[in-house]
Amino acid sequence: MSGQLGVLEVLSGKTLSRPPIWMMRQAGRYLPEYRELRAKAGGFLDLCFTPAYAAEVTLQPIRRFNFDAAILFSDILVIPHALGRSVTFEAGEGPRLDPLDDAAKLDGVQREADMGKLEPVFETIRLVRKELPPHVTFLGFCGAPWTVATYMIAGRGTPDQAPARLMAYREPEAFARLMETLVQASAGYLIGQLKAGVHAVQIFDTWAGVLSPREFQRWSVEPTAAIVRLVREAVPEAKIIGFPRDAGTNLEAYAKLTGVNGIGLDWMIDAKAANRMVPAPQAVQGNLDPLVLIAGGRALDQAVDDVLEAFAGRPHIFNLGHGITPETPIAHVEQMIRRVRGA
Ligand code: CP3
Repeated sequence: MSGQLGVLEVLSGKTLSRPPIWMMRQAGRYLPEYRELRAKAGGFLDLCFTPAYAAEVTLQPIRRFNFDAAILFSDILVIPHALGRSVTFEAGEGPRLDPLDDAAKLDGVQREADMGKLEPVFETIRLVRKELPPHVTFLGFCGAPWTVATYMIAGRGTPDQAPARLMAYREPEAFARLMETLVQASAGYLIGQLKAGVHAVQIFDTWAGVLSPREFQRWSVEPTAAIVRLVREAVPEAKIIGFPRDAGTNLEAYAKLTGVNGIGLDWMIDAKAANRMVPAPQAVQGNLDPLVLIAGGRALDQAVDDVLEAFAGRPHIFNLGHGITPETPIAHVEQMIRRVRGA
């Protein structure tokens, strides 16, 4: 295990002899204790906005696995909610929002987030900080503007985010105004989280990979860079992880131009290419295939060793290449942690 706040040290550019470890979506349906609390809370957003519940869910994977980082339990879609959009989660089907299917609707979106609606999230952070063991780094997060916009425009998840990509091509001015609204709201939200007590934040750009290089620059790199600047104006020491999933060769531009301290890598990227595009002291985080964690066995041991070897000798935080899925056996998570820690 790493020492004091190992994740934060790695984000400051340090190389540790064993990487600290946490998992994206580490609080979730693969845990029976999560499913139990989820059933009590009512709707998914009720769970996110009830501080006692959200704090408990945040701490569940820390108690069970002693991870090196806790991630705030919330969702990226609380920002559209704070912008006055209707957001619901259908069981087993994912999020549903009022779609924004023309320029007039885009222009009708409230320009400023109602931060009062996010106050329960800040209260959750204060509750978690009281209970978190001192070696555990506490991470806040938001969705990147592009990824949040894809859900706001389509009103739901889609395989390739065609509705948002079409809107950005057809209505670039209205789309840019929505993105600017999301930049301001997301920066304010991250600043609020840091002031409430998280040690670092992650910006999830889950859908960065569907963008062409020109659009990637404009809708992933530039908005993320703007958020990083705004956050650092308010909190100069802020440590920030960016996760541009499936960025491929666009990773180089993202690493150079956004100003993030660490980059989350998906499992598809070649490790040598990633090491070249993201040179130390910038940290990398990742990148075990979430499916090999379902498979377990020797395939899992091999994949863990590959990740450890690929990023040995540089600042590295061990993680998955995307979130853990509900069908993952808990015993496989334990197997992975033992191997990473050499225990
Ligand atoms: O990582 C964590 O443990 C912290 C909590 C967290 C959640 N969502 C909880 C959640 C985080 C960091 C997120 C981020 C998020 N939310 C992203 C970006 C990262 C990624 O995984 O791609 C996205 C795209 C969303 C939007 C979202 N929320 C979708 C598409 C869904 C439905 C799909 C699914 O997994 O069910 C959600 C719901 C959601 N968010 C759940 C959890 C635990 C499951 C809801 C439930 O319990 O019923």
